[in-house]
Amino acid sequence: MPTLNINLPEKKYPILIKKGMLNHIGEEIKKIYKNKKIAIVTDNNVEKIYGQRIKEQLRNDFEIKMIVVEPGEKSKSISVLQNVYEELLDFEITRGDLIMAFGGGVVGDLTGFAAATLLRGIPFIQVPTSLLAQIDSSVGGKVAVNLPKGKNLVGNFYHPKAVFIDPELLKTLDNRFFCDGMAEIIKYGCIRDQNLFDDLLNYTKEELFEHLEKIIYTCCHIKKSIVERDELDTGERMLLNFGHTLGHAVEKHYRYEKYTHGEAVAIGMYHITKKGEAMGITEKGTKNFIKEILCKYDLPYEMPPMDQEEIIKTIGLDKKNKGQYMNMVLIKKIGESFIEKIHRKDIEVLI
Ligand SMILES: NC(=O)c1ccc[n+]([C@@H]2O[C@H](COP(=O)([O-])OP(=O)(O)OC[C@H]3O[C@@H](n4cnc5c(N)ncnc54)[C@H](O)[C@@H]3O)[C@@H](O)[C@H]2O)c1
Repeated sequence: MPTLNINLPEKKYPILIKKGMLNHIGEEIKKIYKNKKIAIVTDNNVEKIYGQRIKEQLRNDFEIKMIVVEPGEKSKSISVLQNVYEELLDFEITRGDLIMAFGGGVVGDLTGFAAATLLRGIPFIQVPTSLLAQIDSSVGGKVAVNLPKGKNLVGNFYHPKAVFIDPELLKTLDNRFFCDGMAEIIKYGCIRDQNLFDDLLNYTKEELFEHLEKIIYTCCHIKKSIVERDELDTGERMLLNFGHTLGHAVEKHYRYEKYTHGEAVAIGMYHITKKGEAMGITEKGTKNFIKEILCKYDLPYEMPPMDQEEIIKTIGLDKKNKGQYMNMVLIKKIGESFIEKIHRKDIEVLI
C-alpha cells in the first residue's frame, strides 16, 4: 500500500493511500490505537453515504459515537465547535481516546481544532473524503475554525496520529467539488512538478481516475516535503499559497457564494502568472498552459470585475501579510516557484 511518513521533530505519522481502505479501516486503526472509544465527526452528506459502512467496520472492536454537522463552510464556526465539544463531553471522551475526522476539509479543520483544544488535546486521525482533503487539508497539521471577520482566524498546528486515504470515496463526490480539488492538484504541478502538470494536461478522464492513487501520493509527497522543512509556515510553506492571495480576495468579494475555493485559486493562479509574464519574471507562454489546464478541468481563469482598491485592502488584511512587505508566490515556469517580497506601495503591479 502506498505509504508516506511525515517526519517532524515533535511528531511522526503515516499517510496510507489505498483504494477500498474504508472496507478494512478497523484493522488499520487497531494497529495504532489500543483503547475502545472513537468519536467520529462527519457531515450530513458523508454520513448518508458512508455512515452505515463505517459503523459496521468499527462497532465490533470499538465503542463509537457519530457526531454529524451540516455540510459546508458554515460549520467551521465557533457555535458548531461548541456543539462538537459538548457531544464529545457527553460521550465522556478522555485524552486516552480517539477522535476521527471523517469528511472533507471542513470536517477535517473543525474536528482537528476540537481535538487540539478539548481537554488540552485528544489524539485524532484524518479519514479525508473529498479530493481537496485527500491531497491537501488532511496533511500538514493546520486546523482551524472561522470568525465573522475572516476564515481560519482561530487555529492551531495539531497533527493527526495517522491519515487514511481511500480514493474510492471520491466516486460519490459532486463534479464541482472534484474540480475544486483539481485546482489544488494543478497548483502542486505549477509550484513543484512539471511531470504532474503535463500528465494532467494529457490524461483522459478515464486515465485520470486510473491514476488517482498515484496523483494523491505525489501531491501528499510534495506537501510532506515542504511541511517538513517549514512546519510553521514562515518560509517555504508559503509556496502552497500560489494563487491563493488573489483567490481569497475573489472568494471574499463574492461572499464565499459565487466561487468555490478551488475556482478562486484557479483565477488567482492564472492572473498572477499573466502579471509575472508581463513583468518578465515568468517564462513567456506559461499563462497559456495554465489557461489550457484550467479549462480542461472546468475551472475559471478570468479575473471577474473587481475594484483594485478593494483587492489591495483584502490582501493587506490577510494574516500572512503584516508589515511593510507582502509575500506573493510567483512561478518562473511550470514546476518552479518562488516567494517575492513586494513592498506594499508596489503591490498594484501584480493586481
Ligand atoms: N487545513 C488545511 O491545511 C487546509 C488546506 C486547504 C483547505 N482547507 C479547508 O478545507 C475546507 C474545504 O474543504 P472541502 O473542499 O473538502 O469542502 P467540504 O468539506 O465542504 O466538502 C465539500 C462537499 O463535498 C461533500 N463530500 C465530501 N466528501 C464526499 C464524498 N466522498 N462523497 C460525497 N460528498 C462528499 C461535503 O459534504 C461537502 O458538501 C475549507 O474550509 C478550507 O479552509 C484546509
